[in-house]
Amino acid sequence: MGILALCAAIGYLLGSIPSGIVLARLMGLGDLRKIGSGNIGATNVLRTGNKGAAALTLILDALKGVVAVLIARRLGGGDAAQMAALAAFLGHCYPVWLGFRGGKGVATFLGVWLALAWPVGLACCATWAVAAAVGRISSASALVAAALSTVWAVLLGYGDMLVLGAVLTLLVFWRHRANIARLRAGTEPKIGKK
Ligand code: G3P
Repeated sequence: MGILALCAAIGYLLGSIPSGIVLARLMGLGDLRKIGSGNIGATNVLRTGNKGAAALTLILDALKGVVAVLIARRLGGGDAAQMAALAAFLGHCYPVWLGFRGGKGVATFLGVWLALAWPVGLACCATWAVAAAVGRISSASALVAAALSTVWAVLLGYGDMLVLGAVLTLLVFWRHRANIARLRAGTEPKIGKK
């Protein structure tokens, strides 16, 4: 197996670990797919009322991306790291263990950016936080952060990652199709609300 394929496989497998589902089950919070938006991410874990579980889900989903990128960079350098980043994101969104019906990838998106190019990752986290403080809507904050990520990449000197950044941004938007429809209809819930 070539090094890029190996890094893609490692990234996918790490990304496909459904942290939210596992934590919710272990903590007796129920099946996330039957709660709120049905998503497996931290925003939906928060709808169970358990802030600790939500924070842990956010951290673990981001860490999947961080670890995938760090392993791949060590094994095969920059191209392998970008390959693993994409694979980890896809693993989270399309995990084989859940019939390829996974999450929306936001925490993993932030994690891979933090590991690939930490200034871009920090800028994306800050963008999400500012948008969330203003609008109090998780999905809208994620869409703003994803849309601006490529701008941050160019401004902060990571133009070599622009193609990957654009692909990740498009995928984040694709995974938020239902949220975008609710945002347009004015029915998207605020953070923590069902
Ligand atoms: O990170 C996912 C978030 O952007 C939207 O989650 O559960 O409101 O669809 P949710």
